[in-house]
Amino acid sequence: MAKSIAIGPSIMTADLLNLGAQIESAEQAGVDFIHLDVMDGRFVPNISFGMPVCAALRRSTSLPLDAHLMIEQPENYVDAFRDAGADRITVHVESCLHLHRTLLQIAEIGAVPGVSINPSTPLGAIEEVLPICGQVLVMLVNPGFGGQSLIPAMLDKVRRLRALIDARNPHCLLEVDGGIKASNIKRVVEAGADTIVVGSAIYNDDESVLEAVSILRSSIG
Ligand code: DX5
Ligand code: ZN
Repeated sequence: MAKSIAIGPSIMTADLLNLGAQIESAEQAGVDFIHLDVMDGRFVPNISFGMPVCAALRRSTSLPLDAHLMIEQPENYVDAFRDAGADRITVHVESCLHLHRTLLQIAEIGAVPGVSINPSTPLGAIEEVLPICGQVLVMLVNPGFGGQSLIPAMLDKVRRLRALIDARNPHCLLEVDGGIKASNIKRVVEAGADTIVVGSAIYNDDESVLEAVSILRSSIG
């Protein structure tokens, strides 16, 4: 039986002046979740948004909110994002000193605990915590900006992680993020990803959100 593939837009590249309408068009296009890129200007060289935007999204949609925390000391903010309505909270292994404790903290407050790894970080860095993860997010670009190109070498990393997840925690989602387009989404799924974040290939000036999502889904085949 074909694995169901979840697709979620990153609002990083959305028209933030019309966020409500952008979320509505994503819902009508049949996306599965909404991805929030939280950047603090320290862990990544960019600053985006925080809990107030998360809370505003919570009021506007019942879709799962997937908070991607690209911040230092994320353990200090997971409760606040949960209170703001985040359903899945992902921290970076590179910025979390006590990752095991922080993942347990996220689970205890009722959110799905996720860990993300940058392109240069080996899978071994998260192997010990894999059994307590609800999702692992593989960055296919160096984090901090939308509109970048996927790093081809990351496909092999996704393949190796798929084998690890199947062996150690089959319920864990394998999420990928960065540079995904209609031209490469099939290879990313074939490598083993089941949860796909898409920014500029959904929110752009060339096509409607409805067209973009249906092209992505048909490209998976
Ligand atoms: C990058 C973010 C991504 C990004 C995705 O640091 O984590 O979510 O916004 O945008 P695209 O799909 O345009 O690479
Ligand atoms: Zn992201």
